[in-house]
Amino acid sequence: MPIRSEKKTFYITTPIYYPSDNLHIGHAYCSTAADSMARFKKLTGYDTYFLTGTDEHGQKIEKKAQSRGMTPKAYVDEIVAGIKQLWKLMDIDYDDFIRTTDERHVEGVQKIFKRLYDQGDIYKAEYEGWYCTPCESFWTELQLKEGKCPDCGRPVEKTQEESYFFRLNKYAPWLIQYIEEHPEFIQPASRANEMINNFLKPGLQDLCVSRTSVKWGIPVTFDPKHTVYVWIDALSNYITALGYDTEHDELYRKYWPADVHLVGKEIVRFHTIIWPILLHALDLPLPRQVFGHGWLVIDGKKMGKSVGNVVDPVVLCERYSSDAVRYFLMREMPFGNDGEFTLKAMLTRINADLANDLGNLVSRTVAMIEKYDGGLLPAVGAVEDVDRALWKLAEETPARVEAEMNAFQFSNALQEIWKLVGECNRYIDVTQPWVLGRSEEGRPRLNTVLYTLAECVRRVAVMVSFVMPRTPERIFAQLGLEDAELKTWDSVCRPFGALSAGLKVCKGEALFPRLDIQKEIDRDAAPEEPKQVREAPKADRKKDAKADKKQEETCPAEIDIETFERCRIQVARVVACEKVEKSSKLLKFTLSLGRDGERTVVSGIQKYYDPAALVGRQVAVITNLKTARLAGIESQGMILSALDDAGNLRLVTVEEGVADGAVIG
Ligand code: ME8
Ligand code: MG
Repeated sequence: MPIRSEKKTFYITTPIYYPSDNLHIGHAYCSTAADSMARFKKLTGYDTYFLTGTDEHGQKIEKKAQSRGMTPKAYVDEIVAGIKQLWKLMDIDYDDFIRTTDERHVEGVQKIFKRLYDQGDIYKAEYEGWYCTPCESFWTELQLKEGKCPDCGRPVEKTQEESYFFRLNKYAPWLIQYIEEHPEFIQPASRANEMINNFLKPGLQDLCVSRTSVKWGIPVTFDPKHTVYVWIDALSNYITALGYDTEHDELYRKYWPADVHLVGKEIVRFHTIIWPILLHALDLPLPRQVFGHGWLVIDGKKMGKSVGNVVDPVVLCERYSSDAVRYFLMREMPFGNDGEFTLKAMLTRINADLANDLGNLVSRTVAMIEKYDGGLLPAVGAVEDVDRALWKLAEETPARVEAEMNAFQFSNALQEIWKLVGECNRYIDVTQPWVLGRSEEGRPRLNTVLYTLAECVRRVAVMVSFVMPRTPERIFAQLGLEDAELKTWDSVCRPFGALSAGLKVCKGEALFPRLDIQKEIDRDAAPEEPKQVREAPKADRKKDAKADKKQEETCPAEIDIETFERCRIQVARVVACEKVEKSSKLLKFTLSLGRDGERTVVSGIQKYYDPAALVGRQVAVITNLKTARLAGIESQGMILSALDDAGNLRLVTVEEGVADGAVIG
């Protein structure tokens, strides 16, 4: 094997995600794109490095953790574990996962901060302005919209404190020139104009880079009552992960500058103004490109936890396969634009492109080789123009895919592959192998047709692998293809016909079963079915006479299991609990059901419990009970309790180790 010493490198990143909530399909969109690009580059011969991670500091996390009675670190640890699980489920094959709580990152940020301070780019001053707690953003008077946060519209608080500032404005003229001279730096290009005209030309405010009121963050080494605030912490991850400015900076030297930072459009500004200035001040080269992608929206609104319109990628992947979900995300909308997410659009796409176009091509090809050749791939026989035209298309497709991928046009790249798939299906209709198979004279043509289809299928399988990493092996298995060399990108760039005759094909399951779209939509709208087989509970003899009586009136002596299964009882954790005003009986609970989100439940147990003592505890809740209004509050469920010997209500609870949201039965 020749040693390739000068292999080209490719370094790609996603943003580091806030671990304040479960991630939704919008986050998965960005990671899927980054992963697909990283896989594509690996496939096409680059030494690729793909970084993702989590952005774990700040007041929001501090508060959330507090409300759960946890330390911030324990709180984020739990969420980060869930995020990693999601990436595993979706085959997001990152090379490194940086957490801003990693020691390597903390130390790196502290060094960067100190250096900028020592060279006079960071200075200390008194700051007065407005602060939006949910967004963790400072705003000047002028930036507010009708006195509210210009990003989220929520009220802001006046703050004044001592802070460190980074001299952004000093570098604005340099950055304007840099952006103008490097049109590839900000993509899509329209976003570059926005940065120059809306932000850089009007002049930049120096950036507040420390806080004294937020404790959950990286301490400033030379003034530890300050913690590093947001963007210097977050953005530096792209180089601290590579070991920048440490004894082990091999990765930094190999991969920096990044080839591309993929980011959502709302954070393009931070990546194309603050980040390049920071790097420039540190005398480091800038990333080649920042690509701002659009949002997944629902009814035109950005999918997000604060709007509450989120779609859970876990549910979609488990039901429809991660390959299908990834395909949909990359195929449906042009990268850079927003796209409406609907289940219907996704299912329609899966049926049309995957079940029909691709799935049928593979199954027809294999079935015909089994039928006409006893499962052994024939060699090419008589060749005609119709075959040569398809070979030519197959040979041209990889370069077209590569061109689209180099422009981040995932959807177009997939369309190029599907043009070939479509042409193969048309080729079957035109050449009519079932007619050729009727007589011996048809044989030489039939052999060519079958060989051509199998070789095209192989090429398609190789080409889809960067978006659908699981599907190729399933196709190769049906083709009976084991030779690793024929699964490489190089092998599809060579002339048509690498597959050797005589392979033993083997019909397998349908790659993507056809979905009944209406049924899937109805199912999605219906309350979740109980997933576990349950046993009927043993009737519990209540000591309390009143309860006994009520039991007799409402409970038949016996019910069947189906009746019990109609109740959904789940484990929930008390996130918050308070007395209901003007009521001596009721407590208002905020309950977390883990992946199923949070809900409010009102319960008449005020007499028996101190609300503060309940926070953090797990309880059992009927979660499919019709909502009821109690003291003007919508109660979405019922917390289970039982009377003890002394006539006090005691909460039903579960032993340790049961996840929030777990179904009881
Ligand atoms: O912004 N559609 O983190 P984040 C598409 N920690 N993309 C979406 C989306 C949607 N509906 N919702 C979110 C942060 N995203 C910072 C980044 S980087 C140094 C620090 C994308 O968890 C969003 O656009 O709020 C962003 O690129 C990414 O998810 C992380 O968002
Ligand atoms: Mg965000």
